[in-house]
Amino acid sequence: MKNLVRLDLGDGAQIFFEAGDITEQATDAIVNAANSTLMGGGGVDGAIHRAGGSAILEECRKIVVRDGHLPPGEAVQTTGGNLRAAFVIHTVGPVWRDGMQGESGILANAYRNSMRLADRLSLHSVAFPAISTGVYGYPAEAAAAVAVCTVVDELSHARSVHQVRFVLYSPDMLSVFIQAAKDEQRRRNATGWSFVTMPLQGITPSTNEEL
Ligand code: APR
Repeated sequence: MKNLVRLDLGDGAQIFFEAGDITEQATDAIVNAANSTLMGGGGVDGAIHRAGGSAILEECRKIVVRDGHLPPGEAVQTTGGNLRAAFVIHTVGPVWRDGMQGESGILANAYRNSMRLADRLSLHSVAFPAISTGVYGYPAEAAAAVAVCTVVDELSHARSVHQVRFVLYSPDMLSVFIQAAKDEQRRRNATGWSFVTMPLQGITPSTNEEL
């Protein structure tokens, strides 16, 4: 099983793909797939609030009182509370309907605005879940293509953020994201990209092996 794949983009920026629980990440920020009320929910949202504690919800309340509900595609930050990450970036992905209601643009905005917020906060590393692929029903392959493409674009002109980790909840979703990255490399003819697979901790990684 492939537990961890690193993609070096050739300009110092890196994207990691791994299976796991995003609440355990030690990145500067983790991104929450929230809903517009910012009042918590199930899935990754519930897990983040449970692990991070009440300080996160308190800040979310203040944000909603001040600015109202968070529109899909936008992003705001709170403390990470008890998490290892200092910040949680809350964003709202699109609810999948039929793919003709602007879903891909909203999903790209969610990733883009989260990346730009992290950059404004001068953070170096950000972890993302597969936004919208759970309760919101976005098909995994299509969501992964948008996620990878948008994050690569943002990394290319980020001032501070140079590491993104996609933390996927299942091995299947991990495979989908790795495949999306390979497809994106082909699409861009990005010969400077290099994939490094690390199957187990402590084992010397092999570069550009068949993924
Ligand atoms: N770590 C990483 N990924 C997780 C975790 C976790 N701890 N828990 C769930 N996931 C994965 C799911 O398997 C899915 O692939 O996160 C992805 C997104 O799923 P959801 O959490 O359901 O998010 P989304 O589809 O964007 O729906 C958002 O769900 O919980 C509510 O309040 C949230 O209403 C909002 C809606």
